[in-house]
Amino acid sequence: MNTLKNKVAVITGANSGIGLATAKLFLENGAKVVLAGRRAEALTEATNQLTGDFTSFVGDVSNEEDNIRLIKTATDAYGKIDILYLNAGVAPVAPATDITAAHYTEVFDVNVKAPILTVKEALPQMNDGGSILFTTSIVSQKGFDGFGVYSASKGALRSFARVLTSEVKTRGIRVNSIAPGPIETPIYGKMGLPGEVVEELGKGFAQAVPLGRFGKAEEIAATALFLASDAASFINGVEIEVDGGLSQI
Ligand SMILES: NC(=O)c1ccc[n+]([C@@H]2O[C@H](COP(=O)([O-])OP(=O)(O)OC[C@H]3O[C@@H](n4cnc5c(N)ncnc54)[C@H](OP(=O)(O)O)[C@@H]3O)[C@@H](O)[C@H]2O)c1
Repeated sequence: MNTLKNKVAVITGANSGIGLATAKLFLENGAKVVLAGRRAEALTEATNQLTGDFTSFVGDVSNEEDNIRLIKTATDAYGKIDILYLNAGVAPVAPATDITAAHYTEVFDVNVKAPILTVKEALPQMNDGGSILFTTSIVSQKGFDGFGVYSASKGALRSFARVLTSEVKTRGIRVNSIAPGPIETPIYGKMGLPGEVVEELGKGFAQAVPLGRFGKAEEIAATALFLASDAASFINGVEIEVDGGLSQI
């Protein structure tokens, strides 16, 4: 359980779902973790469950100043960063006829601008040989009604990750993306849809997955641990689907 012993990890979107499960697993594996979240209360509630060497950060990662504060918080607490996991994201739903400029801005600000800004601030503070991870999504490979802007944002993030892989190669920093399928997390309650619609959506997703179920946040966390660790030392520039086979058949 010492896979990440003494490694310093910064995780965005760490007060909930995939980010929280990953923070927990990284701590269990000896990492020092900076958990970044937007809602202070949720962050406190989340960190109350954790043990290990961690620091909390409250801020909006789509804001430039907050990213500067985030990276300063990390370096003040632990020095240089080894693992940067850009995981924060939002998934409000709107069919093409209902998309507004505000919807577009919200989704692209959080899902694309934010990770780009965080990477920019973090890179000078990262150790050579480090690891950068993104949470993308299989939605950019399929066409799910209502997820137009969200899918486009995750496709944009995947493209950014490819360029970054090349730009940091001389420093030995590996850049990889995890594309989850449907994963049971609070994100479905934040989509702006009535409960019964979310339930129907969930049933449809679960039926479409070859393994016949939603994934668990812990299953994404296990993939993040693998990709961040030396076990994945020659894996670089990929996007790994963790989706029970949904994107493949
Ligand atoms: N669950 C799925 O089925 C699924 C599938 C594919 C991809 N994903 C991706 O997985 C990632 C994690 O989502 P999740 O499913 O674990 O959902 P979640 O539990 O809702 O987690 C999303 C996290 O992002 C944070 N966040 C959102 N906007 C932020 C901002 N502007 N600044 C800082 N933090 C912000 C949230 O904090 P607050 O709650 O405090 O706002 C929360 O911690 C997202 O990128 C999502 O797109 C999820």
